[in-house]
Amino acid sequence: MAFPVGKRKYIMSYLRRSLTSSISVQKNCIHVNSRRWISSSKLIIEPNHDESRFANTMPSKEDLKFGTIFSNHMLMIEWHRETKWCAPKIVPFQDLKLSPAATSLHYGLECFEGMKAYKSLSDPDNLLLFRPDLNIQRLKNSMNRLQMPTEDIDASELISCITKLIRLDQDWIPHGEGYSLYLRPTVISTHPYLGVAKAENLLLYVITSPVGPYYAAGGFQPVKLTCDTRDVRAWPGGTGANKIGGNYGPTIQASSEAAKKGFDQVLWLYGDKDEVTEVGSMNIFFLLKNKETGTTELITPPLDRGDILPGVTRRSILELTKSWNKKGLEIVERFPTMPEIREAANEGRFIEAFGAGTAAVVSPIACIQYKGELILPTDGVGDLTKQIYNEITSIQYGEVEGHEWSVKIP
Ligand SMILES: Cc1ncc(COP(=O)(O)O)c(C=O)c1O
Repeated sequence: MAFPVGKRKYIMSYLRRSLTSSISVQKNCIHVNSRRWISSSKLIIEPNHDESRFANTMPSKEDLKFGTIFSNHMLMIEWHRETKWCAPKIVPFQDLKLSPAATSLHYGLECFEGMKAYKSLSDPDNLLLFRPDLNIQRLKNSMNRLQMPTEDIDASELISCITKLIRLDQDWIPHGEGYSLYLRPTVISTHPYLGVAKAENLLLYVITSPVGPYYAAGGFQPVKLTCDTRDVRAWPGGTGANKIGGNYGPTIQASSEAAKKGFDQVLWLYGDKDEVTEVGSMNIFFLLKNKETGTTELITPPLDRGDILPGVTRRSILELTKSWNKKGLEIVERFPTMPEIREAANEGRFIEAFGAGTAAVVSPIACIQYKGELILPTDGVGDLTKQIYNEITSIQYGEVEGHEWSVKIP
């Protein structure tokens, strides 16, 4: 078939452009998988030869500040629409080289996870993860929400790559109660494009950071909350159920204003009835005595509306408390409202409340400011809060032998 000269030039320049772009993709992804999914057997390790980095970087255990120190290595796995997942690589911790046009920077094509690796209290060689399959499933859900491909991610293969990273950097895991290595799996679009569109290139990486106890010696420090803010964290039909960066930036304004007024966290409300949804970056639980039945209810907002993050800690607390079969304690998933909490407090039925998340496990609530009024639970740090904290941490630190939630790192 003969094309007119103008059209021929156009086709030649199109072919040249697509060839160069696919060559540059191939260059970035030197270790192309023979298969297209993430495969731990293809993992390449490029060790960090800087012997002094640990000594120069790792502070004493007491001086650890959350999220400021990063271990020696990171895991990186590239995905390109043409070649799919490249071989995973563990490389020295390093800055990323990213096009300023990458769509993660412009349109928030980014999602992440937060999980921890623990050293068993009785045997520091025994490294443990807590329900990592739930984090990877949540990461995949967040990726799906951003139209990033997940069909070639097998959770056990990705976890296997992550465990190799942890084993390599095991000296960075501080030993002792409350200490752990915080893991931050992240997926960003590296696609250089100024249009709002599906990502053509992704980078999945995992960095790790040694962390100390959430509570200083002396035990729990109950937090002061305010819900007197204009802002809404999440809403039905939004993205609150996903862990995407775009959910977090817009919360900083309300948190800063709360801090200026002397509050530790924002209690997020939704709708005309002032339904309680989450606290800061944690799920929330209330222990209330039911006005009609007199039974004690542990209440947390349900997931089906899509505005609550399905926390791993939330789920564990629900499963744990249900398994106790405690007489007189009902576990209820519904949205409590602030007028209801206020009424319960006035009538002495608001017993305790706590936030729940990986960072703190549980964070007891001292008081809630609502419409200028301070609402207080009767028990401050209550027995249930303490029992949940003790049971979950003893599983995380390997004190409960062979618990199915605790995964040994080979
Ligand atoms: C908004 C939000 N809610 C709840 C949680 C608690 O989730 P998890 O228990 O999995 O840490 C987190 C932390 O990941 C969060 O960011």
